[in-house]
Amino acid sequence: MDVSRGFLVIGSLYLLVGIGLGSYMGGSGDHSLAPVHAHINLLGFTLMTVFGLAYRLLPGLAEGWMPKAHFWLHQVGALVLLAGLFLLMSGRADGAVIGPIFPVAEIAILLGALLWAVNLFGKSR
Ligand code: HEM
Ligand code: HEM
Repeated sequence: MDVSRGFLVIGSLYLLVGIGLGSYMGGSGDHSLAPVHAHINLLGFTLMTVFGLAYRLLPGLAEGWMPKAHFWLHQVGALVLLAGLFLLMSGRADGAVIGPIFPVAEIAILLGALLWAVNLFGKSR
């Protein structure tokens, strides 16, 4: 699997969803889902696009196991976090039930970011 292409293509899908939700909020005047919209665009589109470009442009950065582990930790973590946040903030899920999934998703994203940083420190010289 090409980690760079994966990040870029999936990031573009988050952008479409983020713009869709932003347009809905603008049109309806209901901004209650602004944090969901913000993080779909930032954690989804912006971060994934930065990762995708960096894995393509920095020599050797995409090699080894760390980029793949980073990719999957970020994909699963972001999807669970953003879907959970949407369900919670739109009133479709009970906070007491869905609450425990957030720390798990956050740790996945954080571990991915740690691998990204370690890999970058080693290979960006
Ligand atoms: C056509 C595209 C977009 C529309 C119609 C749109 C619309 C909106 C609306 C209506 C809000 C709520 C504002 C408020 O309640 O103060 C908002 C917030 C926000 N949007 Fe967008 N947005 C779009 C694209 C984007 C993109 C591409 C990004 C980032 C890459 C982004 C990042 C944010 C952020 C970070 C906030 C939260 C700001 C805050 O809470 O202070 N938006 N957007
Ligand atoms: C695991 C990852 C993340 C978690 C758990 C998280 C959590 C949060 C929380 C709890 C807030 C306050 C929301 C509110 O007051 O309604 C917030 C706001 C914000 N975060 Fe994040 N965040 C994460 C990643 C990011 C990333 C990667 C970016 C940028 C690239 C970002 C940009 C922002 C911005 C611009 C705001 C203010 C806009 C708003 O209030 O909606 N966050 N975040």
